Amino acid sequence: MTGVMIVGCGDIGQRIAALFAERRTPLWGLVQTAASLQHLRALPMEAVQADLDRSGATTWPVWMAGAILYYLVPPPREGHADPRLQRFLANIPADQKPRRIVYISTSAVYGHRDGEWVDEETPPAPDSDRGRRRLAAEQALQAWCAAQGVAFVILRVPGIYGPGRLPLKRLQSGAPLVDERESSFTNRIHADDLAQACVAAADRAPDNRIYNISDGHPTTMTDYMLQIADLLGLEAPPIISLNEAQAVLSPALLSFLNESKRLDNRRMLKELGIRLRYPTLRQGLPACLPEEV
Ligand SMILES: NC(=O)c1ccc[n+]([C@@H]2O[C@H](COP(=O)([O-])OP(=O)(O)OC[C@H]3O[C@@H](n4cnc5c(N)ncnc54)[C@H](OP(=O)(O)O)[C@@H]3O)[C@@H](O)[C@H]2O)c1
Repeated sequence: MTGVMIVGCGDIGQRIAALFAERRTPLWGLVQTAASLQHLRALPMEAVQADLDRSGATTWPVWMAGAILYYLVPPPREGHADPRLQRFLANIPADQKPRRIVYISTSAVYGHRDGEWVDEETPPAPDSDRGRRRLAAEQALQAWCAAQGVAFVILRVPGIYGPGRLPLKRLQSGAPLVDERESSFTNRIHADDLAQACVAAADRAPDNRIYNISDGHPTTMTDYMLQIADLLGLEAPPIISLNEAQAVLSPALLSFLNESKRLDNRRMLKELGIRLRYPTLRQGLPACLPEEV
């Protein structure tokens, strides 16, 4: 049976592992910290610890040749490239190459699009360092796969939400929201729908294909925050103009707010055969409860 390796087996990785565990697939996961290693060891999978900031060397599973490999480690927070991914790929033994690498990228590779719809044929044009690092990672992966004869599938993922992943601290801080009429489009996917798309990317995607992974119902960041406040009975934050926001919000938050686009998910629905459990926030947010407020 084809085994599954999950490099960066955190929240999404463990959701993917749970889906494959139902099929009794051999599983192997890599994490950075001792605490995560301990957590993974309680699951039905082989677990290893490695710091890809230092070395890509690790103990590989005996069934590695021909496996499906998910790469979910984020790039470092600085720079324009992803040395973690490059270090990892360079250490893969030549005689134990996986059959396919599924890589979670982000929709930040498209940059700001004035609220237009973008599909996978839209040329990437990142305008944040976050997006540039991801595009560099996608390109490094594609080059390695072409040289090594390994297939890739790239999933471009927007904001992930789910149980334990709601922006409660921000809501509770009372930080203001941009007036909805001026707020940019943001896109989201529920963590469980992302996990099922990841499994489908192993089962059904053709080799060397790129997919937007999104619920297909973009709204604004303001709408998202107000829906969560409403659901949890929290006080709605103050509303300010976009001009005022440029002066008071953090650069990290502004980098999200200044990127407006709507992700077209039709290729995902058609080719991966995904039936979303949570196509809208109205359906997905209640599935995140109970949330400790
Ligand atoms: N948050 C979003 O809305 C969003 C949107 C688009 C894409 N993504 C991307 O989706 C992917 C999966 O997300 P997630 O929520 O599952 O992330 P997560 O829970 O933070 O998991 C990340 C994993 O990577 C490991 N890792 C981090 N740095 C490492 C290093 N230097 N060496 C080895 N392992 C390292 C972590 O190990 P430890 O557990 O030991 O720290 C963890 O297992 C990430 O690449 C994320 O950036 C996220």
